[in-house]
This record gives sequence, structure tokens and C-alpha cells, in this order.
Amino acid sequence: MTNRYKALIYAALIGLITVIIFLGFLIGFDNKISWLLIALLIATPWVYNLKKNGKIIKWKAEYSVGVKSLDLDHQKLIALLNQFNTAYDYEMGEAFEHQSLKDLIAYTEYHFDREEQMMSDCNYPDLEEHKQQHQLMIDKIKQIETKYDAIGHNAFQEVSEFLNGWLINHINGTDKQYTRHLNNHGIS
Ligand SMILES: [Fe+2]
Ligand SMILES: [Fe+2]
Repeated sequence: MTNRYKALIYAALIGLITVIIFLGFLIGFDNKISWLLIALLIATPWVYNLKKNGKIIKWKAEYSVGVKSLDLDHQKLIALLNQFNTAYDYEMGEAFEHQSLKDLIAYTEYHFDREEQMMSDCNYPDLEEHKQQHQLMIDKIKQIETKYDAIGHNAFQEVSEFLNGWLINHINGTDKQYTRHLNNHGIS
């Protein structure tokens, strides 16, 4: 079930609970069920927001690769990934979700180029392997984009799951391996 339908069900439940509370108070203001339902009504949006925010990826200091400009790129990538996930989860319309994926791909390509150039400028020994990882990721995401043209919205479930894991693992693993080399060449 998509988040859009879940939100509709939450709204319908809130409406139903409100009616039951109102009917309970018609019997008397000491009706315990009505007071319990009021507590439930207050807690529902809080629980809903807690669940919703649980999917948002937040930047952490431990993700730092020790190079300020690349950290800023990674923060922007995480922001674009969150934007894409929100567009996908809430089915904000094909034009918007497709555009948010295009923005993410464009910035990812820009970032990969910049990162590869920095590694190349200081003769990073694992540059070729790192470039291959970047290329595999771009190829995969573009395959899914093509699939989107054929089947629409559902093609993006794969991209959402893939990117959430890949991006953080790449930043926190492969990218961090160049930190010492770049710092030793005066890049920080
Ligand atoms: Fe990176
Ligand atoms: Fe990278």
C-alpha cells in the first residue's frame, strides 16, 4: 500500500474517531471511552510523523570524507535522494517524480566527475576501480529510468531501495578510502 493511500486511511480513521467521541459525549462528559479516544487522536499524528521521518536520510558527521567540497556534494546528494524518495512515496505525479530522479542523476554525474578529477589530479592509485563503481551505479540507475518509460511509477521502487543503500555505503566506504591520499596532497 502506498503512503498516499495510508494518509487517506489515517484521515478517514481520524474522522471516524471524532464522530465516536462526539457521540460518546452525548451520553455524558464522564464517558471514559471518549477521553481515551481523544488521547488516541492526539497521539495519531505524532506516531504518523515519527514513521514518516524514519525514512528520511540524515547527514552525519561520521560520513565526512575529510574534503569540505566533497562533503558538501554528498550532503546535496542526500537532500536530492530524500526529495526523490518523498516524490516516489507520496506519488506526487509522474512528472515530479521523474524530474526529481533526473535532478539526482544530473548532480550525481556532476559529483562523480569532480571527485574523479580530484583523485586524478593527485594520482590516486585506486582511481580506475573507483571510476568503475561510479559507472556501474550510473548504468544501473539509467536502466531503471528506461524501465520507467515502459511501466511508470512502479519501476522506481527498485531505484529507491538501491540508492538508499548504495549512496551511503559508497560515501561511507569507498569514498573514505581516498581521504588520507587527498589530504596528503593538500586537499581538505
Ligand atoms: Fe562521492
Ligand atoms: Fe565516489
